Amino acid sequence: MTVCESVPMLRPPGIVGARSRKEVTPVDWYLIVLRAVHILTAVFWVGSFYIFFFFVEPSVKELGPIGGQFMGHLAQKKKMPIVIAITAATTIVAGTLLYWRVSDGFNVDWITSATGVAFTVGALSAIVAFALGFVVVKPAIERMGAIGQGIATGTPPPEDQVAEMQRLGARLVLVGRIDLVLLTVAVIMMATARFL
Ligand code: HEM
Repeated sequence: MTVCESVPMLRPPGIVGARSRKEVTPVDWYLIVLRAVHILTAVFWVGSFYIFFFFVEPSVKELGPIGGQFMGHLAQKKKMPIVIAITAATTIVAGTLLYWRVSDGFNVDWITSATGVAFTVGALSAIVAFALGFVVVKPAIERMGAIGQGIATGTPPPEDQVAEMQRLGARLVLVGRIDLVLLTVAVIMMATARFL
């Protein structure tokens, strides 16, 4: 049996997707549920990232103190950084289980195939993006949120807090750009890997 025949992910898309009436293979609910969870949480993660990077963050910067209050509400009341961190972590856990499954327990033939390389590059890009988000973005948003909540009480923010807000904003833009590239690579690789 060739690598292509033995590894389900390498079979032509028509054969992978289509289940003829005569086919007796039972429905693989484990894979179906895992894929649904993986794709749903990934859409939420990457979608919220794009909205934040292209719309929320620039608006917060342009609006000054009101932007700070809005950021405070998003972070403290709506728990946005935590919700995104949980969905991102779920994407990665489900993705790792899928990777284990479709690679037949990290089968080197699968990993070094074009499909395997593309899934691996996509997975690693997403994991690095998550790590950066967790280590840099989440604490920065939470800190900005805390400062923003202070502004919401009506007292004008002291100079050092304004400066800190600007520093955090600049850090978010830099890491945001890196994450933008990494997450876009992950999406493109995930979307195309099966057809390589
Ligand atoms: C930005 C994050 C991610 C996005 C947007 C994403 C998206 C997707 C999508 C849309 C699919 C379906 C592809 C298809 O059926 O052709 C998929 C499948 C897959 N993903 Fe991800 N993914 C992400 C992160 C990850 C991570 C971190 C891993 C591993 C650690 C991973 C492993 C996999 C595997 C192995 C499959 C194939 C599953 C199968 O065909 O049954 N993904 N992903």
